[in-house]
Amino acid sequence: MRIRRIARRMVRSRCVRVPKAQAEQVRRRLAFAGALRGDLRPGRDRDFVYLPVSGAAREPVGTLCERDLEPVRKPPESYRETAGVPSELRKGLPRAFDVIGKVLIIKIPDGLAQYRREIGKALLLARPEARSVAMDRGVQGEDRVRDLEVIAGEPELETTHVEHGLRFLLDPSKVYFSPRLATERSRVAGLVREKEAVLDMFAGVGPFSIQIAKRARPSVVRAADINPAAVEYLKRNLRLNKVSGVEPMLADARELPGKVPPADRIVMNLPHSAFGFLPVALELLRPGGTVHLYEIVAREGLARRREEVAAAVEGAGRELLSVRPRLVRGFSASESHYVFDLWID
Ligand SMILES: C[S@@+](CC[C@H](N)C(=O)[O-])C[C@H]1O[C@@H](n2cnc3c(N)ncnc32)[C@H](O)[C@@H]1O
Repeated sequence: MRIRRIARRMVRSRCVRVPKAQAEQVRRRLAFAGALRGDLRPGRDRDFVYLPVSGAAREPVGTLCERDLEPVRKPPESYRETAGVPSELRKGLPRAFDVIGKVLIIKIPDGLAQYRREIGKALLLARPEARSVAMDRGVQGEDRVRDLEVIAGEPELETTHVEHGLRFLLDPSKVYFSPRLATERSRVAGLVREKEAVLDMFAGVGPFSIQIAKRARPSVVRAADINPAAVEYLKRNLRLNKVSGVEPMLADARELPGKVPPADRIVMNLPHSAFGFLPVALELLRPGGTVHLYEIVAREGLARRREEVAAAVEGAGRELLSVRPRLVRGFSASESHYVFDLWID
């Protein structure tokens, strides 16, 4: 078998030559004195280690010499430094992108879309653990699936995402998943009391349901979704994480009343339209129960939305014992993603 070695350009540097046994101690002294070069790898032969030092090194810690050394291979700090786009457009390159398992998902502004393949290549170089890069052309339809175009790497997008030690198999071009809610899902799981019946009305591939079933001790978690692909992945994820006590349901949440028994806690993570489903949730909530209602709201309109939520609960003949809006994350220049924790009698 032929082994191909990649020739690397060596760099001549001033070095301190020290016997192997003392190398670590000397390396630390030089680093502490700020004299060790971090851009080159130390050299070695049978008896000695060659520590690269900057011109300013004055420490009498070994024999000074010169040697050719290999540069440290560093991935670029950011894909923005290496992407092949004209320099005047570079500042428009997005700073953030989502990482779902081995898939990177990035929104590219219109003015840069023609450079999408260069952007994809640079991202793969900067994140060697990734397998594919996809451009996000927006979320569409009731099942909130992203319109994705693969711009670099492998065309297959099915991947396993790990969140708080749990594994979620999914294809982001077939189901909705956002890695940005990991902390929020963990918060909600921490609120679930023993023996609660939980309803996850818009469950997707199961990140709320599975975390609740694994971290808390509910009597049952009913997990509904309208997207057949999401329910299939949810079933696979239950097996993958060895979870019991979650009942997956392919269903439109509007049709749940009469089909499922009342719940103590309802998770409503459909942020652009969950408010419209509140009357359905109220039909399904036991007195003294809790609803986590997720909403994308203009920051200026938060107080008004809170009043609308209160009016909807009271209009359904229920008593709102407390309502607490919490910021989950920023969404756009003027809007944020909030959760209203509603305690309802
Ligand atoms: C924003 S995603 C949230 C998924 C999941 N809870 C998560 O945190 O990743 C909303 C989900 O609601 C589902 N959905 C939309 N309308 C629905 C409806 N009327 N009934 C049930 N599920 C619905 C979509 O298919 C999608 O999977």
